[in-house]
This record gives sequence, C-alpha cells and structure tokens, in this order.
Amino acid sequence: MEEKIEFWLPDSEWHTKAHSARVLLLTLLIGHQKGLSDEELDALGMAAIFHDSRRLDDGIDKGHGSRAAEYYKDYCSKNDLSYNTQTYYITYYHDQDDSVGLLEIAKSPSLSERAVLLYQIFKDADALDRFRLGPDGLDVKFLRTEEAHRLVDFAKYLLQKISETNE
Ligand SMILES: [Fe+2]
Ligand SMILES: [Fe+2]
Repeated sequence: MEEKIEFWLPDSEWHTKAHSARVLLLTLLIGHQKGLSDEELDALGMAAIFHDSRRLDDGIDKGHGSRAAEYYKDYCSKNDLSYNTQTYYITYYHDQDDSVGLLEIAKSPSLSERAVLLYQIFKDADALDRFRLGPDGLDVKFLRTEEAHRLVDFAKYLLQKISETNE
C-alpha cells in the first residue's frame, strides 16, 4: 500500500495511508475474532487498503467508495491479482448508509450472505478509527458487532501510541 497504491488526496488530514493501515489491522482483528476464513480476511484487508484511495476531499465525499471500488477492480486486472467481488462491494458501499449498503449487498446475486457480515465488520473497523478525530469522534452505540465494542479501548490506545511516537 505504501508504495504501490495511489491516493488521490496525498495531503489529506484525516484519510491518510496510516488511517487505512489502522483500519486494516482493526478489520483483521474483528474478522479473526469472528472466525473468518483466510479468503474472507484477505477480502477485508484489500477493502481497507483501497477504501479511501479515491477521495477528492476530507468531508463525506459520497462517491469515493464507488471510485475506490473501480480503482481496486482495475488494479487487479492490470496487476494480475485475483479479484474478489466482496471487496468490490464493501469498498463501493462503505461510504453509504448501512440501509443502502446492506440492501445492495443482500440483493446482489454474486454475493453470499457472508458479505453482509463482512460489510458490517469493515464499517466497524473504519468507525473505530474515528477516535483520530477526537475523544468524541465515535458514538459507540452505532457499532454493529460485539467484537468492535470490545476493541474500543484498543483503538484509542493505538492512536495514542502513534501520536506519542510522532511527538
Ligand atoms: Fe471512506
Ligand atoms: Fe476510512
């Protein structure tokens, strides 16, 4: 990710590669606790790497998910990487409301019902890194999985350690 994935907003304050790296770690932690297969963990990891790569601004920027999903798809074909439909959909809808994302994923014929769980795990991992915005950056009642609730303190600790290292 550091060398090969191009981010459109390299000077972003909030959606840096470091954010994506923390989401990668958090998504794998939740996924591991949920007992996901290696393939499912890979799918989540790739979504973490690509999900904010096509932002045009640091706001809501609805549509950055679909742009990132296209970038992921294109990247796979150009680099001979195996393409995963779940990664595509999770990335595509991660910037949408759950009601929209879950509906689209549930009705997609190419996805199994596991994709709904993966989407929820991904959104929780992305949400857990909202503490970078400040101590009130995340209202934990919106977390979807039990595992993410248990990782709240760890997510805060991770950010604190990083800020200490950068001082
Ligand atoms: Fe995003
Ligand atoms: Fe994100």
